[in-house]
Amino acid sequence: MDKLVIEGGSALSGTVRVSGAKNASLPALAASLLTGDELRLDNVPDVRDVSTLLQLLSDLGCRAERLGRHRWALSTTKILSHEAPWELVRKMRASVLVLGPLVARHGHARVSLPGGCAIGARPIDRHLDGLERLGAEIKLEHGYIEARADRLRGAEVTFEDATVTGTENVMMAACLARGTTVLRNAAREPEVVDLAQLLITMGARIDGHGTRTIIIEGVDELHGAEHAIIADRIEAGTLLIAAAITGGRVTLEGVEPAHLEAVLARLRQVGLELECGKRWMRLGNGRPLRAHDMVTEPYPGFPTDLQAQYMVLMTQAGGVSRISEQIFEHRFMHVPELERMGAAIALSGHVATIEGPTPLTGAEVTASDLRASACLVLAGLAARGTTVVHRVYHLDRGYEQLESKLAALGARIERMR
Ligand code: EPZ
Repeated sequence: MDKLVIEGGSALSGTVRVSGAKNASLPALAASLLTGDELRLDNVPDVRDVSTLLQLLSDLGCRAERLGRHRWALSTTKILSHEAPWELVRKMRASVLVLGPLVARHGHARVSLPGGCAIGARPIDRHLDGLERLGAEIKLEHGYIEARADRLRGAEVTFEDATVTGTENVMMAACLARGTTVLRNAAREPEVVDLAQLLITMGARIDGHGTRTIIIEGVDELHGAEHAIIADRIEAGTLLIAAAITGGRVTLEGVEPAHLEAVLARLRQVGLELECGKRWMRLGNGRPLRAHDMVTEPYPGFPTDLQAQYMVLMTQAGGVSRISEQIFEHRFMHVPELERMGAAIALSGHVATIEGPTPLTGAEVTASDLRASACLVLAGLAARGTTVVHRVYHLDRGYEQLESKLAALGARIERMR
């Protein structure tokens, strides 16, 4: 299993281009099941979760042709299988995104219940309730969801609480339902908006995406399209914090500052200098860093996917900060490893209290989930001495060559097989 070896203490500097968004690519790939025409996607990151979903799509009958490192042509003229098997879904929960498209266009789906993961139980009840409201017949047996429908019909769907992939699943299904669907309390993440824009170029009739109420007029069929995936705001936030924690000065290109407003505002409050342009952001070193509380929230709030990275920054800020993780039930798996490196963090339920600054020293640490592994890499960059991050396959799920990007900015980091 690969590991990353990091020599801490280098201030990052330079310019790096941010990859396409994993969490916009996954629903966009699943959307290829909604048409028999060819769907061309550009700026798809070369990460493990994308490969996993492409594997599932080809098992279902989708022909996926690689046109370039980040460019794919997909077409599903015939469905070979309606099943998303346990061994794939347990590896990646987002496989459930094939559920809505399969039921809507092919009338049948058999998808393994995802089961929990490191950060929480992660049920999909809101996905299933939404599809049932659209007329799908849902049965649960042997750990699988069986969903069937002759033709879905438009309905009012109210999500009891925000769900990103739940909104995406039901929105995709509603595109081919007969009649109008209104999604209330819909997720507003940029990745949901990007999917809606892709679906519209495929002929869907959608309004209100990016707000809490999305209206979809069903159509009989969708056609092929070309679409470029938005930049990965979570990778961008991770790289900004890498610059901040090393006292560096870094410019990110190919990004959308508007997608990170809550994060940029918070980093400014912590004392960092930030300039933004149309498709770039520059972070200058603001010293000393000031501790500041943070609460994770659905978009446009501070994203839970940057919680661990923000936490490690707070270990270097002067004062006490409290981080409240409101989205997942236990997304503090990185805390014990940070403590081993010298951080002073107390946990009480959903709240982590960090006392800083505390000098960090390099250590052998183990990643537990995608964003926790990123946090440990950032800690290694700031620590005195050598840090070895084990199980970096977690990192490879959602970051394309993060160590190369960091090395290009001056970090002393290398991957060991
Ligand atoms: C998406 O996951 C992202 N993944 C996650 O990113 C991200 O952390 C999350 O949204 C929150 O922003 C993708 O987009 C592929 P949710 P998702 O449904 O859709 C509960 C990463 O690191 N819930 O918005 O699975 C759920 O348990 C990943 O890139 C239900 O109870 O998240 C969680 O506590 C991690 N029932 C909360 O809602 C449901 O039916 C938010 O979940 C659905 C969700």
